[in-house]
Amino acid sequence: MSKSRDLLRYQDLIKIIEHHNSLYYTQDKPEITDYEYDQLFLELLEIERANPDLVTSSSPSQRVGGEVLDAFKKVPHRLPMLSLANSFDPEDIIAFDERFKKFIKQEAEIEYFCEPKFDGLALEIIYENGILTQAITRGDGNVGEDVTHNVKTIRSIPIKLKTIHPPALLEVRGEVLILKNDFLKMNLAQQENGEAVFANPRNAAAGTIRQLDSKIAASRPLCFFGYGLGQVDGVKFEKQSEISHYFDQVGIPVALEYISVCQKAQEAVDYYLKIESHRHKMDFDIDGVVIKANSLKLQDDVGMVARSPRWATAAKFKPEQATTIIETIQVQVGRTGALTPVAIMKPVKVGGVTVTHATLHNQDEIDRKDVRIGDTVIVQRAGDVIPEVVQVVLNLRPEDSKPFKIPSHCPSCGKSAQKLEDEVVSRCVNPHCPSILKESLKHFVSRRALNLEKIGDRLIESLVDQGLIKSYSDIYKLNADSLRKLDRQGEKSIENIIKSIEGSKKTTLARFIYAFGIRFVGEQTAKLLADHFINLNRFLSATNESLLEVPEIGPKVAESIQNWLSNKTLVNEANKLIHLGITFETSKRNTTGPLSGLSFVITGTLPVKRDEAQSLIENNGGKILASVSSKLSYLIAGDDPGSKVDKAQSLGVQIISWEDFLKLI
Ligand code: IVH
Repeated sequence: MSKSRDLLRYQDLIKIIEHHNSLYYTQDKPEITDYEYDQLFLELLEIERANPDLVTSSSPSQRVGGEVLDAFKKVPHRLPMLSLANSFDPEDIIAFDERFKKFIKQEAEIEYFCEPKFDGLALEIIYENGILTQAITRGDGNVGEDVTHNVKTIRSIPIKLKTIHPPALLEVRGEVLILKNDFLKMNLAQQENGEAVFANPRNAAAGTIRQLDSKIAASRPLCFFGYGLGQVDGVKFEKQSEISHYFDQVGIPVALEYISVCQKAQEAVDYYLKIESHRHKMDFDIDGVVIKANSLKLQDDVGMVARSPRWATAAKFKPEQATTIIETIQVQVGRTGALTPVAIMKPVKVGGVTVTHATLHNQDEIDRKDVRIGDTVIVQRAGDVIPEVVQVVLNLRPEDSKPFKIPSHCPSCGKSAQKLEDEVVSRCVNPHCPSILKESLKHFVSRRALNLEKIGDRLIESLVDQGLIKSYSDIYKLNADSLRKLDRQGEKSIENIIKSIEGSKKTTLARFIYAFGIRFVGEQTAKLLADHFINLNRFLSATNESLLEVPEIGPKVAESIQNWLSNKTLVNEANKLIHLGITFETSKRNTTGPLSGLSFVITGTLPVKRDEAQSLIENNGGKILASVSSKLSYLIAGDDPGSKVDKAQSLGVQIISWEDFLKLI
């Protein structure tokens, strides 16, 4: 980039960053995610690095962001509250270590103190002769706001230190936050009282600590973790780790179970990876880890540069939220006819993956979040789940925007949609709706159903659009001549499609049942049905009673299967498919192995893919059940488990982690 373009961008960046600083630090109304902010900051630092002569004293790199609200008393910090250099890649911990060693001209390994990076609000709590005298927010790093009245309401913070020899002065630095569970309860109460709910624990904590009325803070579940010192008088430490243990001794909360002293940088990288994989199980939100030189003498020797200490770095986790704009809202028709609104967004990276679509679930959800076309929204992606719109940034809403309503007619076939009383979704009920047909066919050919590898979603769309298939059985009537009618299909690809169709004819009864997409019949239930009825005819003539005899199947699922069985067209389809050459191999279920006789249900996100976990259970002789019942041997709970955990607890079923499960085999 040329110097003059650098200068223009630099001046722009300063304005943009200052604007976001004010929104974030002073008003608690961020409009962009931390990740996007950090990207702007990195860009600014990059320009400054390349053009040191451009750096001005008003650059955000020269001070920690934020102003102080007038309504609070302004209090200067005895020692400035600084910021940390950030990175998003654990490899950068190694780079930090190398820079550090070079700076101190040392080759020997450096001992690091590692702890979580709490995602709350920085606070300084001052103890004089063991008594809490003042608490100050970070503010702009030099001057903060006096929030003593609120901090005194936080029960986990001692008003008097637990020691008979208190130091004359102890400035404790740490982070105020709200535990995830408390946050959920608190939001529920807010909702019940008709008050606004908070987007996340951090916003709730920040909004609470800066209330003028301490009764409000007292009614909210704030907590605090100490991580460092300001000025002290009357107590001496040699290591960062000693500070944490001292805090613990005198009653200041610390996250002791998550701290670790590492003998070299690679161990700190391992620590980062361990905490990252564990973060969803933790009681509080963290956004990374902080790596600090453990020796306080070393910290003193190296000092700081601009706004951050040289002796510490923050390695952040890949962000799982980002901000983007909804370009349009499409209403998609699923294979059950459900009309699902989907936000089509300006592409944005979330957690390292580019996201363009997010489900809006149904009209109730759209109304609750008031999501509209043209809105700037915060999107979130957790693990493998479909991205979701978390929140609309209301002050960026275009003036002419209108609430979005799902149409009363199916967008695909135009027939009127229906909404059953006990359901939140509206559905197209036209059996000839082309969208329902396409989606049902896509499910039928999918990998876990009949596994027609060479027939993908696009091919299904063109086959239906060209009128070449109107039902499942039509797939097996396709031949080279009919396929040649499609655009862009070469002879080789036609040959592959035919091979794939032929190959799929040998399947299992379980896959076949699953392929029909009967409501409430997922892969596991299909396996149970196949195990129980053994052949297709017996399944097709199942009665309600015989269905209820299948382990795991309750009245709701039995009724849905009965509905399906009473649909002559569908049963005919099943028979036609058999005439067209579909055959079943008996599924080879392994009943020997360490898990023989044991049954499992999985909930939440595991460190491995779901199907890998299922194969591992089955290959070791275990059985997978569709739902939790008192007969279940184990519930395997991953991250963010669902209500199955409550059910298992109430039935006394053993709940185990993935690691516990691995021990079983
Ligand atoms: S040490 C010189 N340790 O991160 C600053 N900071 O960018 C030394 N933070 O708002 C800070 N958890 O409040 C440190 N375990 C931790 C932390 C932590 C969160 C926050 C800190 C500040 C920001 C620094």
